[in-house]
Amino acid sequence: AYSFYQSIRHQDPIFPMSKQYNHTSWLITRYDDVKELLKSQSFIKDQSKLFSPAEREKNPNDMEINIFQHMMLDVDPPDHTRLRRLVQPFFNPKSIRAMEPRIQTVADTLIEEMRHKDGPLDLIDDFAFPLPIIVISELLGVPAEDRNSFRQWSNTIVAAADEFEESFIEDVQAFSTYLTKLFEERRNNPQDDLISKLLQAEEEGEKLHTQELYSMVVLLIIAGHETTVNLIANTMYALFQHPDQLKQLKEDHSFIESAIEEGLRFYSPVDFSTARWAGEDMSFRGKEIKRGDFVVASLSSANRDEAKFEAADTFDITRKDNQHLAFGLGIHFCLGAPLARLEGKIALQTLFTAFPYIHLAPSAQPKWKEIFLLRGLEKLEVELT
Ligand code: HEM
Repeated sequence: AYSFYQSIRHQDPIFPMSKQYNHTSWLITRYDDVKELLKSQSFIKDQSKLFSPAEREKNPNDMEINIFQHMMLDVDPPDHTRLRRLVQPFFNPKSIRAMEPRIQTVADTLIEEMRHKDGPLDLIDDFAFPLPIIVISELLGVPAEDRNSFRQWSNTIVAAADEFEESFIEDVQAFSTYLTKLFEERRNNPQDDLISKLLQAEEEGEKLHTQELYSMVVLLIIAGHETTVNLIANTMYALFQHPDQLKQLKEDHSFIESAIEEGLRFYSPVDFSTARWAGEDMSFRGKEIKRGDFVVASLSSANRDEAKFEAADTFDITRKDNQHLAFGLGIHFCLGAPLARLEGKIALQTLFTAFPYIHLAPSAQPKWKEIFLLRGLEKLEVELT
């Protein structure tokens, strides 16, 4: 993928991918262009402003399933502002710092389980996956024991963006039924968690509609665990591929934060999903973009743009001034960025402290998942001694 992006960046950086129903889908690949796109108010998220319901049915990028319909990720101001304001307090740096001891405890517990596990260790299944899902479940107030169900639902939902699986409708319904039951329980017995806070806002009526409540929880569950698992695993994989830097990091943990940033840049966990609709006809870097065109920003490509980053294809944990776009930019900048960064830091610190000899298992054959929205590995088998 990276060499494909590189050639497009040079040859046709605003690349027309396809044309359907008079609308072009564009791929934006250069750092400066991606940045401008994400900051621009001419590109919007809510397609209902652009297409009539009849036209929308024809649009392949549209999914009419209810629990996704009102995610803050997919709406524009003023709805976006209202929704983001509701949850922002839970994710600001101060609230996230307060979670540090708990995240550490979760990491320590997983490490103990790894120590005592018989058979091969998969850094994803045994560590990188459960850590963020336990943390986000506790923050939301969702029982962490149910995490295997979320994993299945969430995998199907993310995969559906690429290819519709038969189980999709079933899984979405199961997810929605599960949430209805959980909301009912929590309404009767409010706790000090995000779901209780959202239910309170929903009761007050003006701040959150019922549909938005479902979408918000689904978004947070998916965003909270399909991405951070990849941040941890992708960074570890990049380190395994660069043994000198792995050694340096094990000896000096002060580079962990910059290693995480470099992991985010080098193997960006989110790629193709940062998309917008053109809200008006415009000329963008010399290309005529029409109202209703679909525009995809490739964060992976932007983060490897040699016009922005020196030795862009080199993994370097000591890189300075690493202004990658892995968390997006502008009003939709990742809400969970402080949480993801903290989880990444604690994950690496804890792994290196507990297992100073951790290395890729000789039999391991890491393979990227074939989902183009996200960059993540299927497995990452490791040995500890
Ligand atoms: C938005 C990446 C972790 C919640 C975004 C966007 C990106 C991103 C690129 C912007 C999408 C766009 O502009 O179209 C990542 C990466 C993560 C991560 C790389 C981990 C390494 C998390 C976590 C959470 C989260 C842990 C929450 C628990 C969200 C939400 C939005 C968002 C709610 C939508 C914000 C809005 O529309 O205002 N994320 N994310 N993310 N992310 Fe993350």
